[in-house]
Amino acid sequence: RTYKIAVIAGDGIGKEVVPEGLKVLRRAQEKFGFTLEIEEFDFASAEYWQGHGQMLPDDWFELLKPFDAIYFGAVGWPSVVPDHVSLWGSLLQFRRSFDQYVNLRPVKLMPGVKSPLADRKPGEVDFWVVRENTEGEYSEVGGKMFEGTDREVVIQETVMSRTGVDRILKFAFDLAQTREKKHLTSATKSNGIAITMPYWDQRVEEMAQNYPEIDVDKFHIDILTANFVLHPDWFDVVVASNLFGDILSDLGPACTGTIGIVPSANINPERNFPSLFEPVHGSAPDIAGRGIANPIGQIWCGSMMLDHLGERDAAAAVLAAIESTLAAGEYLTGDLGGTATTAELGTAIAEALSR
Ligand code: NAI
Ligand code: MG
Repeated sequence: RTYKIAVIAGDGIGKEVVPEGLKVLRRAQEKFGFTLEIEEFDFASAEYWQGHGQMLPDDWFELLKPFDAIYFGAVGWPSVVPDHVSLWGSLLQFRRSFDQYVNLRPVKLMPGVKSPLADRKPGEVDFWVVRENTEGEYSEVGGKMFEGTDREVVIQETVMSRTGVDRILKFAFDLAQTREKKHLTSATKSNGIAITMPYWDQRVEEMAQNYPEIDVDKFHIDILTANFVLHPDWFDVVVASNLFGDILSDLGPACTGTIGIVPSANINPERNFPSLFEPVHGSAPDIAGRGIANPIGQIWCGSMMLDHLGERDAAAAVLAAIESTLAAGEYLTGDLGGTATTAELGTAIAEALSR
């Protein structure tokens, strides 16, 4: 079992947390007997932009396409490159060109992490948010009329294709099928958005026919956001359109604690193209260069990547190593209330994995 991994650390703390992620991945490879062929790239960074006037080399698509996965840190250094340039010039190119139509994030309460859900225990909150990543509300269909006059009108259409809706639903149902609770929740708003959202609901009902074991429910997005906070234990797999998923996939992880520990995946389930694994956080210019960033988001990304590659045992072991290190509480970074450095926490997780 050999996998080709492209590593792009990017900017700021990306450069500090990626080495810790690799430290743990190398330990997993020794323990579980697979091989990661790792190649590191310096593009998608402010330095590359300064040297080349663009975020990526012209042949980035051919360069990255042969890889099984992209292990990504963070991009963005607003004092050098405007954020819309760095984001559109790199990450969004990958998501679109590699048809990474699933955005997946865990919402999981971890031991020893202070969270707004103070009365909950680890184990009580453990679900996935599955966001459609390519169409829906984020469309380019629309326009402006009567610009600059008081009759000014702007319109932006939501686009849902049958293929686009069905493929994200299928991914979510398949994920629910692998889970103990086998419970899928759909985010909707078919009471107010009277064309696209009833269509979404109808595709959910249709897809549910193929999954008789799965218990399906739906909530309107407004009450769903409230329930993320009030009843996070109700959820197992939550599937949502692009906009609703964007909101839920920030809200969910925010409910479970520091941004520094949460991973995310942009997945092309058919594996026609590499999928991309990146922490939810950005380059954190305010703490970059000091060796104090929390590496857990990046390390957990490694677990998600191993799971995607089919190395299920290794993926579970990396997650267990993160949990036991958090529970022990001996090596925690500042955002978790401790004084450990990025490297000390990374090493502690690697050691826990070896045990
Ligand atoms: P950010 O996530 O970089 O930082 C937000 C706050 O959280 C900061 O106070 C930071 O110190 C803290 N934080 C983030 N990660 C942490 C970690 N691992 N350990 C401890 N504390 C952590 O978001 P911000 O400041 O809005 O954006 C900074 C830059 O990152 C911008 O250029 C932005 O465009 C980019 N960005 C890139 C993302 C990506 O690569 N996918 C995602 C979000 C932002
Ligand atoms: Mg977002």
